[in-house]
Amino acid sequence: MKAREIRPKIHSVGAIDWDRRLFDALIPLPDGTSYNSYLIEGSTKTALIDTVDPSTEQVLINHLNQLGVENIDYVIANHAEQDHSGTIPSILKKYPQAQVVATPRCKGMLIDLLMVPEEKFITVNDKDTISLGDRTLEFIHAPWVHWPETMLTYLKEDKVLFSCDFLGSHIATTDLYVTDEGQVYEAAKRYYAEIMMPFRTNVQKNLEKLEGYQIDIIAPSHGPLYDKPEFILKAYRSWAFDEPRNIVVLPYISMHGSTQKMVEYLVAALAERNVTVKQFNLSVADVGKLAMALVDAATLVIGTPTVLVGPHPNVAYAALLANALKPKLQFVSIIGSYGWGSKAVEQLSGMIPNLKVEVLGPVLSKGFPKEADFKALDNLADTIAQRHRTHGFAQ
Ligand code: FEO
Repeated sequence: MKAREIRPKIHSVGAIDWDRRLFDALIPLPDGTSYNSYLIEGSTKTALIDTVDPSTEQVLINHLNQLGVENIDYVIANHAEQDHSGTIPSILKKYPQAQVVATPRCKGMLIDLLMVPEEKFITVNDKDTISLGDRTLEFIHAPWVHWPETMLTYLKEDKVLFSCDFLGSHIATTDLYVTDEGQVYEAAKRYYAEIMMPFRTNVQKNLEKLEGYQIDIIAPSHGPLYDKPEFILKAYRSWAFDEPRNIVVLPYISMHGSTQKMVEYLVAALAERNVTVKQFNLSVADVGKLAMALVDAATLVIGTPTVLVGPHPNVAYAALLANALKPKLQFVSIIGSYGWGSKAVEQLSGMIPNLKVEVLGPVLSKGFPKEADFKALDNLADTIAQRHRTHGFAQ
């Protein structure tokens, strides 16, 4: 595919990765992704905003060759992670006069990660500008979306915000701009949940910082561009600022059916009390879907059998993931079963120190659940529904 024009002398020159299914050897990518890179040819200077993952280096080089780019003055490094910075060394080899523009912290990271020579850098402070002649780039420091060195770049005359990973989505598509808002909403929410949610307070600050800018186009580092920026800004404001909703997320594992029976009973009891439940059997669940469900949930109920005294390892993984993602949860409980003894509750509780939640009484069944266990699950459902009502969490 050819480089695509965004505005006269502004091109999208990055790569689409249709086949990638895992990021950071951790995050599922059901729809592939893209590594977006942008070329801006000003009247006196030319800038390349970010590069591409090294696996797709030749796509970027081909685009630059197709466009007849003989000179690049500035490589803007919004982010040091290698899916955007990894081809900087090759660009510097092809365009030896180019300088790398980065935050001071990003400079250090690019030296550490890619051995970019120190003399190649121009460091920029928040709101510094660089002129390309008839066009001006302004650099907006935006730390922790999602590394400490991240910045955004604003092209003043065209009102284009190059937003780095912030506001992006993992989608491989030939569409330059968002055409299917439903699909992109889902992918952007997954991306927010997995990448940005742990830094929610920084996301809030960065959203507030952008309020002073007129933005016609948002050009993120992954996924299609937004020619209606309010679509993604509104979604981010909701995910980052809104109260949690009347939702229980229930990840669980069952080995011989006891925990399964308890989960089914509790899910039905909550539904009868008008609480929405999102149930995830961790032996088959997509952890990206689990992360997305945590964006809006008020309560997490973890279901586990007891394995070697503790929780099932897959459940421990889900607890550690929820702890790392730091969602807006307000309440947590644990249900499950054991054969002869269990420290599952104590061990799971120790895995979620980041969650600032009220812990609701656990329900553990010895063997298959019986009448007293079902009564305890009814009580738990009552407590959850009542807490959600008291807080006024909307459906
Ligand atoms: Fe898309 Fe944080 O790299």
